[in-house]
Amino acid sequence: MFLSEVKRLHIDFKKIIKAFLKKILFLITVYMIISFLSVYPNRLLGNIIDLITVEKGLTSSVLKLIFVYILIRFSNLIFSFFSTYYGESIRVNLEKNLRIKSINKLLDIKYLNESNNLQTSEYVTRIYNAIKELVESILEIVYWFGKSLFVLIFTFYFIFKINYIIAFLIIPFVLVMALLTKYISKKQKDASKKEIESNAKLIDFTHEIINSLSTIKIFNSEKYILNNYNKTEENWGQNRLKCNLISSTSVMSLSLFGIIIISLILLLSGSGKSMVKPGEITSLILYTGNIFVIIMEVFNNVIIFSALENSLKRFNDIFNEKNIKIEEKGRIAKTDIANWDIEFKSVNFRYQSKKIINNMSFYIPEGSKVAIVGKNGTGKSTLLKLISGLYKPDSGEIYVGNILLNNIDEKVLRDNLSYVLQESYIYSDTVSNNIFLGNYDNEDKLNYVTDICQLNDLVKDLPKGYIIHNNGANLSGGQKQKIGLARSIIRQPQILLLDEYTNALDNESQKIISDEIYNRHRTIIFVTHNFEILNKADLVIYLGKNGNYYINSHYKLLSECEDYNNYIKIN
Ligand SMILES: Nc1ncnc2c1ncn2[C@@H]1O[C@H](COP(=O)(O)OP(=O)(O)O)[C@@H](O)[C@H]1O
Ligand SMILES: [Mg+2]
Repeated sequence: MFLSEVKRLHIDFKKIIKAFLKKILFLITVYMIISFLSVYPNRLLGNIIDLITVEKGLTSSVLKLIFVYILIRFSNLIFSFFSTYYGESIRVNLEKNLRIKSINKLLDIKYLNESNNLQTSEYVTRIYNAIKELVESILEIVYWFGKSLFVLIFTFYFIFKINYIIAFLIIPFVLVMALLTKYISKKQKDASKKEIESNAKLIDFTHEIINSLSTIKIFNSEKYILNNYNKTEENWGQNRLKCNLISSTSVMSLSLFGIIIISLILLLSGSGKSMVKPGEITSLILYTGNIFVIIMEVFNNVIIFSALENSLKRFNDIFNEKNIKIEEKGRIAKTDIANWDIEFKSVNFRYQSKKIINNMSFYIPEGSKVAIVGKNGTGKSTLLKLISGLYKPDSGEIYVGNILLNNIDEKVLRDNLSYVLQESYIYSDTVSNNIFLGNYDNEDKLNYVTDICQLNDLVKDLPKGYIIHNNGANLSGGQKQKIGLARSIIRQPQILLLDEYTNALDNESQKIISDEIYNRHRTIIFVTHNFEILNKADLVIYLGKNGNYYINSHYKLLSECEDYNNYIKIN
């Protein structure tokens, strides 16, 4: 089971983990030394006490032992200090490398999935949590092997050496204690998980309130929100208290066992044939204290193996999900593409059960101006995503210049086909960085697009460095749209896809920008509700109900398609 999860691990991640194995083995060895150095002094202490009481004074052998005692304790401190730092550095590097690799994998994805999980921060949070969990369970196993287990072994070794009868009698108590610990620690983990979850809900709720303040006020729903919020608080409070209750009971019941075992040692030491020396009693009592702590660690971590398997499984599941499948990259270079005609051959696309594009076929010669029209939700944006290669058709083929879109090299495709999304994502960065997005740094090109997209005023208005804050929360919808437009046309693409790019622009901007774009670009495919722009199109793709579609010139459609006629009339 565990091994099959390891096998399932993506090769890149395997490599990263493998690279850390040597360091981890070294850490285990250090832990083993520390374990001995922390267990042995308790026996030494007993010896010193016995020597002092027998020899009645600080003889040279007593002084020697005290010196050894100090030396061992001191070296233990040094080793522990070193191992903590070393362990932490392993953790930091492992986590860092796995995360960087994961983000690389995310960016490698060729097609976006229907549910677009990838775009949500929830998805990234899941990856981050999975990595944290994985690294944590790896290190806990290391700790378990290196420290808890060895400490337990050494402790029992010394107890047996002092008095094997006592050692045998302690064993059943230790076992019961261990089982109890295992039970409690499971309860504790569940409870603390619930507490963390309810705490997260609380924070989410607060964010939701902040984000929806205007809605709450307009619809007079303060009471409703507050009521729900109170419930969330109530839930958190209960979980928090439950956590506390479990941990106090566990400490109490385990201490009880400690008391029982110590009394047992005292009773056994004083009775029977073999009297136990005072120093030995001291060692035994100190070891009992140790056992108490170690048992907690050892048996907490026995579940750790299944925890590691589970976290590996979760990690693998995330990276084997449909939406993170990494497809073969296209390899056709620009020089192999004869023209920029676009062709759909019986293309089908659905979201889950919802069919959006139904057996669609068309041919768009290079240089055409094509309008996509239709009511909300008929699939206009989806169609653009298919043409742009962001989505993969369920069946059918999409060709660009007679080459399957799938086979065209990503870079070639992105350099020649650009897409202004219905809503452009704005980064909290300078205007120019938002337009270049790391691809160009040519001032002339920047001036050219800021002119066309009428962004000069914005650049002037923004404070020093032209920084946009809060992902453009302080920009108007039109300003954001202009930035989105600018970042597409700066590439001077062969094919330009525009998704409702005018809907936030004022009439004047609409006219100027449309004219500029029309005159400067070859193939343009645009989604619009603007009648005037529609007039200029060479071809109109009208998306009707139930995946029906009609393709023709605007005037042909007006005379031949009743559905289209009605649509135009209403608009
Ligand atoms: N990521 C998605 N997951 C599931 N359904 C979606 C998704 N995106 C869009 N849809 C659905 O697909 C239909 C077409 O969406 P879209 O192409 O955005 O329409 P349009 O741009 O014409 O308004 C809509 O009914 C919408 O609800
Ligand atoms: Mg849309």
